[in-house]
Amino acid sequence: MRILFFGAPGSGKGTQSKRIGKLFGLPHLSTGDMLREAKKNATPVGLEAAKYMDQGQLVPDEVMTGLIQERIGQKDCAEGFILDGFPRTLVQGQTLEEMFHSLKADLDRVIYLVIPVESVVLRLVGRRVCSQCGEEFHLDYKKPKQAGICDRCGGRLIQRPDDQEEKIRTRLRAYEIQTSPLIDFYEQRKLLKRIEATGEIEEITQKIQKALE
Ligand code: AP5
Repeated sequence: MRILFFGAPGSGKGTQSKRIGKLFGLPHLSTGDMLREAKKNATPVGLEAAKYMDQGQLVPDEVMTGLIQERIGQKDCAEGFILDGFPRTLVQGQTLEEMFHSLKADLDRVIYLVIPVESVVLRLVGRRVCSQCGEEFHLDYKKPKQAGICDRCGGRLIQRPDDQEEKIRTRLRAYEIQTSPLIDFYEQRKLLKRIEATGEIEEITQKIQKALE
């Protein structure tokens, strides 16, 4: 199975795609996670990407397509995978289609998580991430036992640079202008499944599972 998770920043792509990946036994390919890892390791791609990510802008298509092409070609993706955060532009969508043609594979479903803008802002401004292990917390929904400290490893909790309100607005604008044209792109290919993405995490997972069955 090859499934793509699509939606605005903060719509829950990461949360839901990881859960579905576990349920279906598929590797979870998150371009955001790959870029953050590359940034942490100060690789050339990571340093280049950080200039855009920290401002809430999209990383150039040529960087992204190279990254995903290499990952999809790895052995663990042979039987399927879940894409989270790619494609994000029409150029990326077209390139992905070409990659599938050359692999003689098909994209099975695009799960489009639909959520109002203001809910997104509330979710993202309150998010805190462990600087050591990456575990996520939230100032309202998932408080750490001790303020500012990770429950799992004791690391320091930080706010992602692109989770400041001004950067969130920039990300949402980038989504509207550069990413949302992909909704029509996948609708025309009859792959798009809209999922109402407000409410409890578990309820949303169940809706997605049903849509995939
Ligand atoms: P990326 O990491 O993909 O950021 P994003 O799409 O902005 O996604 P988020 O992780 O913020 O949101 P999400 O939809 O995954 O929601 P999540 O589950 O995390 O990309 C970061 C940057 O990398 C981009 O801005 C860009 O610069 C670059 N990049 C990446 N891919 C690229 C590409 N293809 N092309 C160009 N540039 C690219 O949830 C968010 C929060 O809400 C969490 O705190 C979570 O716990 C909480 N939450 C989730 N579900 C619920 C719920 N049901 N109720 C309450 N809270 C919830």
